[in-house]
Amino acid sequence: MSHKLMIAERFSRAATSYAQHNELQRHCAVALLARLPHRDLGTTLDIGCGPAVNSDVLHARASQYLGIDIAPGMLHYAQQQWPHLQWICGDLEQLPIAANTVDTIYANLALQWAEDITTTLAQWLDCLRPAGVIVATTVLQGSLQPLSQYLLKFTGHRRHNQFLGRQDLVQRLNTLKGVEISIDYHSITIHYPSVRTMLHDLKGIGASYQYQQRPPLAKQQLLRVESAMEWHRDALGRLPLDWQIAVFKLTKVQS
Ligand SMILES: C[S@@+](CC[C@H](N)C(=O)[O-])C[C@H]1O[C@@H](n2cnc3c(N)ncnc32)[C@H](O)[C@@H]1O
Repeated sequence: MSHKLMIAERFSRAATSYAQHNELQRHCAVALLARLPHRDLGTTLDIGCGPAVNSDVLHARASQYLGIDIAPGMLHYAQQQWPHLQWICGDLEQLPIAANTVDTIYANLALQWAEDITTTLAQWLDCLRPAGVIVATTVLQGSLQPLSQYLLKFTGHRRHNQFLGRQDLVQRLNTLKGVEISIDYHSITIHYPSVRTMLHDLKGIGASYQYQQRPPLAKQQLLRVESAMEWHRDALGRLPLDWQIAVFKLTKVQS
């Protein structure tokens, strides 16, 4: 089975319980919604829309809303919540959308699933009308700490996909033609009572999928990770999980 199909399957399985695990997504959505232009959003694509958490807010400001996701299970859930909106099953790297037909693209925490972010964004820009905007968040290198360092130490493997560094992202954005770029960075810490709830959450949002498959975590390995993570417990008894997030806006320059 291809990676894309496996990602679709993993996220489809996560759809119904997703809302219990999406604290990071909700933080990022606040930053992203604040970056939207103050005008009518016009024809709006919500790429990697997941279970449609922000669809009502976007739809209220758009003349037409289209949610796109690769996971049929996510779209099924979204459609049940908002049957009057339009849902398309598709790959964000091959959008089934004609050039020059879209005013706004919103993509919250989906771009890190693109195998080639530059060609993906170039293609999204093609879909935009002049003066159209893309607002997007993506996960950067340095995320999933301190958990990630202990998983590596005690299993010998990185247990998540590699994320772009800040400089790598900026370099890739700078290769795009006919676009104004603004970008900022957010460090977000989500707190958990235990390592097991942390891992459960990562699974619950489909984020534990790896291109390079690893053997399951053995009981002894998990116990070592749990013991090392205790050093990070704060005065409120919580364990931290850090995320490094880029929030950016691309505006297609009027020609
Ligand atoms: C972390 S979730 C974010 C969902 C939603 N945007 C939110 O803010 O709650 C990532 C979403 O991207 C979707 N996704 C992953 N790879 C994709 C691809 N190649 N094309 C389209 N959607 C994809 C997943 O199915 C999932 O719904």
